[in-house]
Amino acid sequence: MATTTLTLFLGVLALTSILSFNAEARPQPSDEDLGIVIGPNTGLDDDLGIVIGPHVSEDLDMVGPHTNLEDEELGTIIGPEFEIHKHDFPKDFIFGTAVSAFQVEGAKKGSGRGLTRWDEFTHMFPDKVERGDDADIGVDFYTRYKDDIKLMKELKTNGFRFSISWTRVLPNGSVRKGVNKEGVKFYNDLIDELIANEIQPSITLFHWESPFALEMEYGGFVDERIVEDFREFAKFCFENFGDRVKNWATFNEPSVYSVAGYSKGKKAPGRCSPFEVLNCPSGDSSEEPYKVTHNQILSHLAAVEEFRKCVKCQENGGKIGIVLVSHWYEPKDPNSSKDVEYARRALEYQLGWFLRPLTYGHYPAVMQKDVNIRLPEFTEEESEKLKKSLDFVGLNYYGAFFTTPLTNTNSSELSYTNDLGAKISPEQNHSPHLKTTSMGIVIYPAGLMNLLRHIQDEYKNPEIYIMENGMDEIDNGTKTLAEATNDYGRKEFIKSHILIMGKAIRLHNVRLKGYFIWSLMDNFEWERGYKMRFGLYYVDFNDNLKRHMRSSGKWLSEFLDSKESLHKCYFEGHREKGYAPKLFDTEYLDPDNWRLSYASDI
Ligand code: NOJ
Repeated sequence: MATTTLTLFLGVLALTSILSFNAEARPQPSDEDLGIVIGPNTGLDDDLGIVIGPHVSEDLDMVGPHTNLEDEELGTIIGPEFEIHKHDFPKDFIFGTAVSAFQVEGAKKGSGRGLTRWDEFTHMFPDKVERGDDADIGVDFYTRYKDDIKLMKELKTNGFRFSISWTRVLPNGSVRKGVNKEGVKFYNDLIDELIANEIQPSITLFHWESPFALEMEYGGFVDERIVEDFREFAKFCFENFGDRVKNWATFNEPSVYSVAGYSKGKKAPGRCSPFEVLNCPSGDSSEEPYKVTHNQILSHLAAVEEFRKCVKCQENGGKIGIVLVSHWYEPKDPNSSKDVEYARRALEYQLGWFLRPLTYGHYPAVMQKDVNIRLPEFTEEESEKLKKSLDFVGLNYYGAFFTTPLTNTNSSELSYTNDLGAKISPEQNHSPHLKTTSMGIVIYPAGLMNLLRHIQDEYKNPEIYIMENGMDEIDNGTKTLAEATNDYGRKEFIKSHILIMGKAIRLHNVRLKGYFIWSLMDNFEWERGYKMRFGLYYVDFNDNLKRHMRSSGKWLSEFLDSKESLHKCYFEGHREKGYAPKLFDTEYLDPDNWRLSYASDI
């Protein structure tokens, strides 16, 4: 009865707003509608929004974007419809797409680019990459970038996030060992072409491509010598591109680089201790992830110092930050104080590991206690500098995970994962069941709100850019073009996150400045190869890498086209007024496949 009344009430509100076309008068979902706090509040930690219920065990079911279904065929929309409008966002808000150099460029040979650790990883350990894929050709962005900029125009986006391949400009990692002029020209041309098309470039300096020469010389980021080499690379980029590029990030998802690369060994350089599940030729999961993080943070600091000294960057009004990934964590059983505690721990271990040093100058207290002498320390001088080293926080948000303490851990097997001690998975104890993407990420737009507000409250209300958000699907290249481009689930996924962002800005004054969708087009998804796809454009690997706009891309272009007024955002029923986009149980992750599972990156 209450539900019917609420639905009717929202229906009337919706109608009123359609008639008035007034952004402020439109019905806006309340926190509860969006599932920010689900179920009874136990008073344990409601500001983190990690109180949920009721709890009914259900089998894990995982889904991917549905193909071949039109909106009108849905017929099962439950709960309110919310409306989003581009005018709900500030005028200077950036709506863009994102890629990274290694995943799209190709042109490994014949372009003067030096080798990276990922080249070695894909070629030396093909068994660690789905189907043995490599990125030698990528999706040929290197030669097709002008046409790809036309795609960005077609989407009506005004921002593009990409990374600079360190070894494309400095093949051996440092200026004194030579500059690749062709590589510098490529990025200059790319930047100029973007600006000519009124698309703002946003550059990430390090998106996991460590120069192979430096890896051979001293082991890359595991050694502190990397800091001065990174400083030199950053300075080189600021000097060459800083007159035109305003938005810079030093590192992309440094936590994944440390954990997946040096604790679990599933991403390059593929290092881990012998007790880890994967067979790594060498490594030390107890110390290396912490050293690698420490050196990334000090490298960030070195780059920021250079950025502040770069006159043309300052004159150009440039800003510099870092791109951190964080999931939202919910306790598997909200009535278990341990599960609640481990949700909080997971957030500290993933986001706090970087954002605490970069805001307060020290690692999270919980990590100092657990990791103890294995956790490096900052000097007082470094701490002071770190506190001033961010102009903005870049956030990659894909979804949520559930937490419970790990059982059966062997206390002699020290690693990042065992220090955290949490089992992080999509397995959940409540009903209705929250759905997951094909990689096993729980689709939870409300988690974005929780995270934004957590960052606002806990980290001094910084400017924030969502540097990645998007939805994966598995496609071996066996779908028809119509199936491959009709990505209803992704469309609703993106809409629902845009809805959350608008609400965060309007109702909570979150200082959100931009939103970049991962990704412009399908590309090399690291150890998951090309079969895991994220693109607003489908790439046909059977037909000369031809790009085809998906329905998500079409929707985005309509949304961003100011002539369009209203866009309805449907949420699937969850407690009769749910917050997950409607999806269909058509594609399944193999939960035992460590390559595919996203939780195994944490
Ligand atoms: C994280 C990374 O930054 C990006 O390289 C990756 O492709 C996407 N998220 C999707 O997994």
